[in-house]
Amino acid sequence: FDFAEPKNEPVLNYGPGSHERKELQKAVAELKAQVRDIPMYIDGEEVRNGEKKDIHPPHEKAHLLGHYYQSNEEHVHQAIDSALAARESWASTSWEHRANIFLKAADLLATKYRFRMNAATMLGQSKNAYQAEIDSACELIDFLRFNVHFVSQIYKGQPLSSPGINNRMEYRPLEGFILAVTPFNFTAIGGNLPTAPAMCGNVVVWKPANTQIYSASVFMEILIEAGLPAGVINLIYPPGAMVGEVCYAHPDFAGIHFTGSTGVFQSMWKSIGMNIARYKSYPRIVGETGGKDFVFAHPSAHAAAVATGLARGAFEYQGQKCSAASRAYIPSNLADEIKEKLIAQVKTMKMGPVDDFTNFINAVIDEKAFNSITKYIDAVKSSNGAAKIICGGNYDSSKGYFIEPTIIETTDASYSSMCEEIFGPVLTIYTYEADNWVEMLDVVDTTSPYALTGSIFSQDRYAIEFMAKKLVNSAGNFYINDKPTGAVVGQQPFGGARASGTNDKAGSILNLYRWLSPRTIKETY
Ligand code: ALA
Repeated sequence: FDFAEPKNEPVLNYGPGSHERKELQKAVAELKAQVRDIPMYIDGEEVRNGEKKDIHPPHEKAHLLGHYYQSNEEHVHQAIDSALAARESWASTSWEHRANIFLKAADLLATKYRFRMNAATMLGQSKNAYQAEIDSACELIDFLRFNVHFVSQIYKGQPLSSPGINNRMEYRPLEGFILAVTPFNFTAIGGNLPTAPAMCGNVVVWKPANTQIYSASVFMEILIEAGLPAGVINLIYPPGAMVGEVCYAHPDFAGIHFTGSTGVFQSMWKSIGMNIARYKSYPRIVGETGGKDFVFAHPSAHAAAVATGLARGAFEYQGQKCSAASRAYIPSNLADEIKEKLIAQVKTMKMGPVDDFTNFINAVIDEKAFNSITKYIDAVKSSNGAAKIICGGNYDSSKGYFIEPTIIETTDASYSSMCEEIFGPVLTIYTYEADNWVEMLDVVDTTSPYALTGSIFSQDRYAIEFMAKKLVNSAGNFYINDKPTGAVVGQQPFGGARASGTNDKAGSILNLYRWLSPRTIKETY
């Protein structure tokens, strides 16, 4: 059954006085008025036992949003058992029926639950209305609809046959269960990682970051309302190291769909390697990890475009995107103009809680993030001239984890904040001698082990082609005259190689292939 290619979900406008803004404000107020008692979902049951943990909005620490129940080892075993028990009937459910559940979930999100889902993302993850809309509405809806289309395209792919011989491919799910480990920063990634394998007939254990549980549980309710059978996706909240230990030691472990830090991914890979002889099949390891994403402005660049690309690329969602611009190389002929325009834009970004829709910058996700980001700012304050702060630099965690959008300027292209992933609202700028732009490309390529996203800005066609070739391995998502964030499902398949992951391109057909184990059948007659 061939599902037609969908259109991307349009972004709603939450402008002052709009109906959409009123509805979203109402949804935020409704959620804030509740203390949600968030269960685990194992075998279709809501499970409430174990240690209770409170959830607070990152921008308003004193407010209690709800609590979740920390999963223990027994819960993880129950989730695996429940997934495996559901496997046979889910794998043999016809494709049309499986697909329909995810299409219905997309429709529920687009209509009945759009404002509730966005409000949960705003409160739980401290995103402003626009950042929530492009994530937990548009991107999540797109993942569901486009992935259904991609799977239907895969199923259509059949080998040649000849008279007397019929050849066919059966795209079976993997033999076992998939572990989905999802990050705080995108509700859409949280939704995509378990549903992409599930769509292909797999069963899943889903462990979101603790800081994503609030929105993940709202999405789970939507999947259940859409008709997801018991046990197909089991949502649990164990500590990360423990869930890995249990899952990787299990003979039915069939794969991991991961987005998170490079360090965690590398240690997962090692544990899976240590257990390799236990498994029925070689597990699929699909991961998107860190980034240290560059913006390189050529001497021919349009200065205003560079400034806007940097302001938005570095500071939307407080820079907490693996794709965020975090190191900029600007040419001496444009440096003053770019900096002046950039700082002017950043100074207009108001900071505060998400309830006030005029706030562009909200809080960073938690205390750990706050401490690790502010360390970089403090290091500049005490550095002896290698770097200085040219915008922002203040922070305050008395009410919530607020850090001003901060721009560091350095004269050392290998200064720590040019090389290390910070994952917060900190951009570092290095000015290079315009005549040396060719040599600088080697610096861009070798400064970081990552290769996730990157942007070049230029108005010279030959320079653009030269840079694209020279930086061929530096970014899996390469943007020309645009910011390095905001990949759209079906339009800019997302992912990078090197230390940034397995480059299995979320939002494209390539990702879906990883969750299938084809059987080739030859029949003669
Ligand atoms: N897919 C997200 C982006 O492109 C991370 O910004």
